[in-house]
This record gives sequence, structure tokens and C-alpha cells, in this order.
Amino acid sequence: MNTFQLILLVLAVSFCGKLLSHIHDNAAPNFEDFISCLESNSNNVSSISQVIFTPTNSSFLPIWEVAVNNQRFIKSSTPKRSLIVTPINDAQIRVTLLCSKKHGYEMRIRSGGHDFEGVSSTADVPFVMLDLTRMRPVDVNVAKKTAWIYGGAMLGEVYYAISQKTNAFYFPAGICSTVGVGGYLGGGGYGNLMRKFGLAADNVVDVRFMDVNDNILNRKSMGEDLFWVIRGGGAGSFGIVLAWKLRLVPVPELVTIFLTNMMLEQGATKIFHKYQYVVPTIDENLSIRVQMSSEKIPNTNKKTVRILFYGLYLGAVDTLLSLLHEKYPELNVTWEICQEVTMIQSSLFFAGYPTDTSREVFANRSSVIKLNGQNKLDYARNL
Ligand SMILES: Cc1cc2nc3c(=O)[nH]c(=O)nc-3n(C[C@H](O)[C@H](O)[C@H](O)COP(=O)(O)OP(=O)(O)OC[C@H]3O[C@@H](n4cnc5c(N)ncnc54)[C@H](O)[C@@H]3O)c2cc1C
Ligand SMILES: *[C@@H]1O[C@H](CO)[C@@H](O)[C@H](O)[C@H]1NC(C)=O
Ligand SMILES: *[C@@H]1O[C@H](CO)[C@@H](O)[C@H](O)[C@H]1NC(C)=O
Ligand SMILES: *[C@@H]1O[C@H](CO)[C@@H](O)[C@H](O)[C@H]1NC(C)=O
Ligand SMILES: *[C@@H]1O[C@H](CO)[C@@H](O)[C@H](O)[C@H]1NC(C)=O
Ligand SMILES: *[C@@H]1O[C@H](CO)[C@@H](O)[C@H](O)[C@H]1NC(C)=O
Repeated sequence: MNTFQLILLVLAVSFCGKLLSHIHDNAAPNFEDFISCLESNSNNVSSISQVIFTPTNSSFLPIWEVAVNNQRFIKSSTPKRSLIVTPINDAQIRVTLLCSKKHGYEMRIRSGGHDFEGVSSTADVPFVMLDLTRMRPVDVNVAKKTAWIYGGAMLGEVYYAISQKTNAFYFPAGICSTVGVGGYLGGGGYGNLMRKFGLAADNVVDVRFMDVNDNILNRKSMGEDLFWVIRGGGAGSFGIVLAWKLRLVPVPELVTIFLTNMMLEQGATKIFHKYQYVVPTIDENLSIRVQMSSEKIPNTNKKTVRILFYGLYLGAVDTLLSLLHEKYPELNVTWEICQEVTMIQSSLFFAGYPTDTSREVFANRSSVIKLNGQNKLDYARNL
């Protein structure tokens, strides 16, 4: 591993998180009425009992914890007066909805569990958590340039499934591979391909959606207004996304990535100032994300600022270099810091893995890293 990869790994950990500590259980209400409702409304009692977890089941805490991405909510004081259902099909989702309403429990839907306020895993009142973790197939159709993805899939699983079939198409989504498609697409979803292809939600073409009256709707039967609002307005305020249908976008089989690293003392301020004028109008095949952090200057009490420029270019290195040479030479991007890779490798790179990491890591839920803060990215709205 070279220094460049090391810096990237450290940064990815600081962006995507830290490992968690342990928690204890709270007193929990009695969920018997709810459980008998589920059982009496299911046509297969043994199947539904296997997906119900109350705080008395030994696997309750591990299941609750595994997809709580933020350590702020993994504390003994976090209310866990919940019952978890991990459905494997629509019928189980339907009875969970029916019985939650009947017995007055609020419902929390959890996809990737990355909500910054913990709303998918916590509540001040007794609630039922519908954990979609077991409903996450991704079905890619290269000929039609589409994919159906279930509501519990993570972005990394989407990237992985596409890359298993093609390097010529991709889905324009986010940087952190462990974010769930439920919350991500329900919130709009930005990412590295946004300049060229828009938000991820702009590339959702259909949906399978269960409304509060347990009707299963698609784009046509729900109408354009509801279809619009569940792709940015928070899908969970309106119902449950069972699956999204995505449009895949064309990408070159090889793209170029780079990372440059500049300190305040090297004139980073001036270079960043120019960034704001160059990058919004440059070739849309190029996106450059900036990350700033303060750090201590070794052997002093002073601090300085590091600015990182992460680049993704949908084209070859030589074209990128001539483009930057003309428009933004101050960035000092050279052959040495560029790599030509496939899109899936670029996703590994931005998620903090070396580009030769096996892409299987994106299909592995145990590799989810916890974080304990919040991030906010700024984008210009008017240019
Ligand atoms: C480390 C990290 C990196 C991130 N990077 C990016 C990024 O690059 N780009 C970006 O745009 N955002 C990014 N985000 C923000 C992220 O998109 C949102 O936090 C998103 O809501 C998380 O979705 P989730 O499914 O993982 O979370 P969850 O906590 O499972 O859900 C979030 C919300 O969506 C609801 N919901 C989940 N699934 C469904 C469903 N199937 N139907 C209806 N409602 C549902 C939940 O009830 C909850 O209200 C990042 C967040 C983190 C923590
Ligand atoms: C009921 O569910 C169990 C467990 O999922 C399964 O083994 C069994 O075949 C199912 N029975 C019917 C009749 O579908
Ligand atoms: C968890 O416990 C409840 C009863 O409290 C039971 O109905 C359910 O089947 C148990 N879940 C599992 C997965 O064993
Ligand atoms: C960029 O490259 C030029 C010429 O090689 C050099 O003088 C300058 O210090 C570099 N700037 C930074 C910020 O690395
Ligand atoms: C972006 O790349 C595509 C495909 O290589 C190319 O056709 C297009 O002209 C490029 N866009 C610009 C603005 O150069
Ligand atoms: C998944 O990730 C975990 C934790 O990093 C690791 O121990 C395990 O071997 C991985 N599984 C696979 C199939 O790669």
C-alpha cells in the first residue's frame, strides 16, 4: 500500500465511520397482542414467527444494532421499546403494516440504517421496526439498461450486481457503499456522476410501493405527483418502497480517477478559490469533490488546513490531462497520480478501498463501518 492509498483509507474511515462499543437492553413493553395479530393474519405461522424479534429474543440486539450506522444511537440510554420484523416477502410486510395500525404502534422502516437522526431505528414511543435487510435482490437487465432493486439493498450491492454483468453501464449514486437504497433514493441521492446524469432519483423510472392502506402501486397507478415526492421528499412519509426500477447510464469501460492533496502553505486557498469558477462549467464528464480538514502541524501547537481534490473523469487520462492543463493547471494533476480503472473500481476507491480490492466487499454486509458524526455536503444551486 502506498502513502496515497493510506491517506485515502484513513479518510474513508473518518468519513464512513468507526467501530462500535456495546450496549444493554431497556425494559420493553409486551408485544403479545401484536404477535398474535401477525400469526392469525399469516397463512404460514411458522414462517412469520421466524422473522419476529422482541427484546426477549437473543438475536434482538444484534439485529437491531447491525444496521444502526451511527454510534450516537448505540447507547444503553437509546430507547429500544421496539419489535423488529425482518420480512422476506410482500405478504409479511402487509400483515406487519396491518397489525401495527390495529395495535397503535408507530412503524419505522429500515433499509441501510444510515439515517443521521436515527429515525429508522429509534422512537420515543413503542414501535415496530420493519427491517428490510432480507429483501435486497438486485436484478440487472443489461439489454434493457434497467435494474430492479429491492428496498433493503445497499448502494454497494447495486454497484456489485451491475459490475457482475457489464462495465459499460452504471448507476449514478453515492460515495459510501453501505448507504441503503431506501433512504438514499427517497432523499434524492447525489454522487460522483451527478454533473452528467443528475440525481440518482432522476434515474429511477418505476417503483413498487405499498401505501398506508396496503395497496401495492407502481408509477402509473400512483400518479406522477406521488412518484415525484417519494424520490426526494422522504419515501417513508408516504409508504413503503418495496423495489425501485433504475435506468442504467452509459459509462466508458475505463474511467480516470485521481486524488490530489494540498496544504494551506502550498497555496491551497487560491487553488480552491479558482475551483469554484472552473469546475461548475468544465466538461460534464469530469467531477471533482473537495474535502477540507484541519490538522496539527507536527512539533508545533499550530494547526493547518488540508484540502483534498477527488476526481472522476469519464474518459482517458490523456484527455483529462489536456483538459486540466488548459482550464485548471494549478491543480497539478499528472500521469503519476491518475489511474484508469473500471467504474466499480472507482467506487471502491471513493469508498476508501485500494482499487485492486475484490469487489465482493460491496456485497458483504459485515464490512459496514459505524460512524459517530454527521456530514453535510454543499452544492451550488444557482450558477
Ligand atoms: C456515511 C454516510 C455517507 C453518505 N453518503 C451519501 C452520498 O454520497 N450521497 C447522498 O446523497 N447521501 C449520502 N448519505 C446520506 C444518506 O443518503 C441518507 O442518510 C439516507 O437516508 C440513508 O438511507 P438508508 O436507507 O441507509 O437509511 P435508513 O436509516 O434505513 O433510512 C433513512 C430514512 O428512509 C426511510 N426508509 C428507508 N427505507 C425505506 C423504504 N424502503 N421505504 C420507505 N422509506 C424508507 C427510513 O424510514 C428513514 O426515515 C450518507 C450518509 C452516511 C451516514
Ligand atoms: C411455511 O414456512 C416454512 C418456513 O419458512 C417453510 O419451510 C414451509 O414450507 C412453509 N409452508 C408452506 C405451506 O408454505
Ligand atoms: C421471538 O420471541 C417471540 C415471543 O416472544 C416469538 O413469537 C418469536 O417466534 C421469536 N422469534 C424467533 C426468531 O425465534
Ligand atoms: C504545482 O506545480 C508547480 C510546477 O511544478 C510547482 O511550482 C507548485 O509548487 C505546485 N503546486 C502545488 C500546490 O503543489
Ligand atoms: C463526454 O464524454 C462523451 C463520451 O466519451 C463524449 O461524447 C462527450 O463529448 C463528452 N462531453 C464533453 C462536454 O466533452
Ligand atoms: C465480510 O466481511 C467480514 C468483516 O470484514 C469478514 O470477516 C468476512 O470474511 C467477509 N466475508 C466475505 C464472504 O468476504
